[in-house]
Amino acid sequence: MSIPRRVRIVEVGPRDGLQNEGVVLPVEIKAALIEKLAAAGLGDIEAGSFVSAKRVPQMADTKAVLARLRPPPHVHLSALIPNRRGLEEALAGGLRGVAVFAAATETFSKENIGCSIAESLARYAPLVEAAVGAGLDVRGYVSCALGCPFEGDVAPRAVADLARDLAALGCGEISLGDTIGVGAPLQARRLVEAVGRDVPVAQIAVHFHDTYGQALANIFATLEMGVGVVDASVAGLGGCPFAPGAGGNVATEDVVYMLEHSGIETGVDLAALIDAGVFICERLGRESRSRAARALLARRRRDPGA
Ligand code: HMG
Ligand code: MG
Repeated sequence: MSIPRRVRIVEVGPRDGLQNEGVVLPVEIKAALIEKLAAAGLGDIEAGSFVSAKRVPQMADTKAVLARLRPPPHVHLSALIPNRRGLEEALAGGLRGVAVFAAATETFSKENIGCSIAESLARYAPLVEAAVGAGLDVRGYVSCALGCPFEGDVAPRAVADLARDLAALGCGEISLGDTIGVGAPLQARRLVEAVGRDVPVAQIAVHFHDTYGQALANIFATLEMGVGVVDASVAGLGGCPFAPGAGGNVATEDVVYMLEHSGIETGVDLAALIDAGVFICERLGRESRSRAARALLARRRRDPGA
């Protein structure tokens, strides 16, 4: 076992979380959420996306959200971009990173970004080159890494090929997305094994949705293989608007609880993170999906001094 002593959490709630919530929040609430997450010690936050407003109305005001933020220098903000226009917006917004997103199956690729896998790679090649040239960190997502809502099972080889191609374009980090949250721990292990033959494990991040309650177990299985970067979403917000049945992302509070109680550092203040989760759930008018947050809030109510 080579479990890392410290894990970097990439907080995707403001993007992957809010993009799938029915309520479109005002700009100032989104900005306040990002500030609270940063204040809780999350140093890597996906703040939004620059995509079609018709397709994802929840992200239409990412530019205005960024304009309100004054992140401390150690906080790395990024956004999802599908094209050159997105890159220009990201640069104008002062972001430090961008993420391009491809899919392991043809049907999901078409549904999500309107083109084939090969076409997406051809689009991303000059985009990633330009982003790297502009000094940005570039992440590449592989969606449907453990299953597709349209095509079912996905072969690890297909994911590994795409991960290798994205890394070859210049993506410094490859996030393996279980978009619909169907994978189980040994599948997650096999996936990292397969991808790890083509992409160094130090470059691999894992992105689990918790539809079937497998996300924490999957994360731990991949940490045991040396993965040190984990995506999570405050309060378990989220899903994917183009993945029918996709549940929320794994809750950041649950990931932090699991890691810190296992002696693995995250740099995150769990109490402050829980407060950020309460803030956003109140604004959305919904319950947190984080088990750890619910348990710790119940304990706070029983014993306010604890
Ligand atoms: P297209 O129709 O091929 O391209 O869409 P287009 O150039 O004709 O643009 C369509 C419309 O989008 C136009 O507006 C453009 O102006 C606008 P209209 O003329 O119809 O009013 N547009 C943009 N607006 C703002 N910023 C931009 C931009 N580019 C075009 N950068 C496109 C192609 C990719 C743009 C479209 O299909 C799209 O936006 N898709 C949405 C994809 C998306 O955001 N999906 C959810 C995120 S992925 C995910 O959640 C999975 C992940 O979490 C990992 C996992 O869980 O596995 C990452
Ligand atoms: Mg996702």
